[in-house]
Amino acid sequence: MSKDKIWVIGASGQIGSDLVVELRKIYGGANVIASDIKEPNQEIKEGGPFEAFDVCSVDEVSHIVKKYQITEVYNLAALLSGTAEKDPRFAWRLNMNGLFNILNVAKEGLVKKIFWPSSIAVFGPTTPKFDTPQVTITEPNTVYGITKIAGERWCEWFFHKYGVDVRSIRYPGLIGYKALPGGGTTDYAVDIFYHAIKGMDYECFLSKDTMLPMMYMPDGIRATLDLMHAPSSSIKIRSSYNIAGMSFDPQMIHESIQRHYPEFNVNYKGDFRQEIANSWPSSIDDSEAYKDWGWKPGYDLTSMVDDMIIQLKHKLL
Ligand code: SER
Repeated sequence: MSKDKIWVIGASGQIGSDLVVELRKIYGGANVIASDIKEPNQEIKEGGPFEAFDVCSVDEVSHIVKKYQITEVYNLAALLSGTAEKDPRFAWRLNMNGLFNILNVAKEGLVKKIFWPSSIAVFGPTTPKFDTPQVTITEPNTVYGITKIAGERWCEWFFHKYGVDVRSIRYPGLIGYKALPGGGTTDYAVDIFYHAIKGMDYECFLSKDTMLPMMYMPDGIRATLDLMHAPSSSIKIRSSYNIAGMSFDPQMIHESIQRHYPEFNVNYKGDFRQEIANSWPSSIDDSEAYKDWGWKPGYDLTSMVDDMIIQLKHKLL
């Protein structure tokens, strides 16, 4: 029986819905505590303990850590880029205070390891757009990006100052079938599948040539677990690692889906998220992640689209 007790905050969200299931396969259902302020899906509710929980409350954080004798925390709770832009104050509170509370609990020696998600949103309009390097200009101009770059700085600071074993990934746009799209700029690439499968036209909020770095969720989960399972000595970057999966634009994913649904139609009508997308890179250089802990993506656009359609059809029909 594993001695590790894992706590996933944000278990009802985009990454959490998949990550909790995979962690429970590894550590056993009872050893992975899921929590969120939102109701989780059936699979998560039935697979192990669930706590309704607000990460912004310091008292609640230490209460749960002590109650379950937590050894590792995955703190995924956050507002994504589109939603954060509409409520900057709440985004700052949720994205920052949550991280800060967990880092402080780790500093007291109560938990051994932390995972925290960063994003390609740490980059901005002044960042090199193609093969964006690990270390480069990071001048984000979105609320979400500002919280992520600040969070990265905090992670590195807690590691150097207090030896907190915190690890992080700059996720590209994640495409998964378990959670519904949740307010991100890259979420068009999830939503588009629901429309195709239901036989509906899709109105895309980005232009057809907006190329962004993306990743299929199984790759995202594997990257997360590989990073967390790597020996501490091989984790050279304590802010957050660039990782890449694939890059595509709306027209490319539309055409790939048309291999399955030739009649599927997409109209383009940009909204405020176009400007967010324009400020982000088109492709990412992830050579540091490869060098330090062996990261390599498994899915490309075609294999992702093929699998997404199988999985979503199974879920919806
Ligand atoms: N997928 C996120 C978003 O679009 C980026 O990390 O907000």
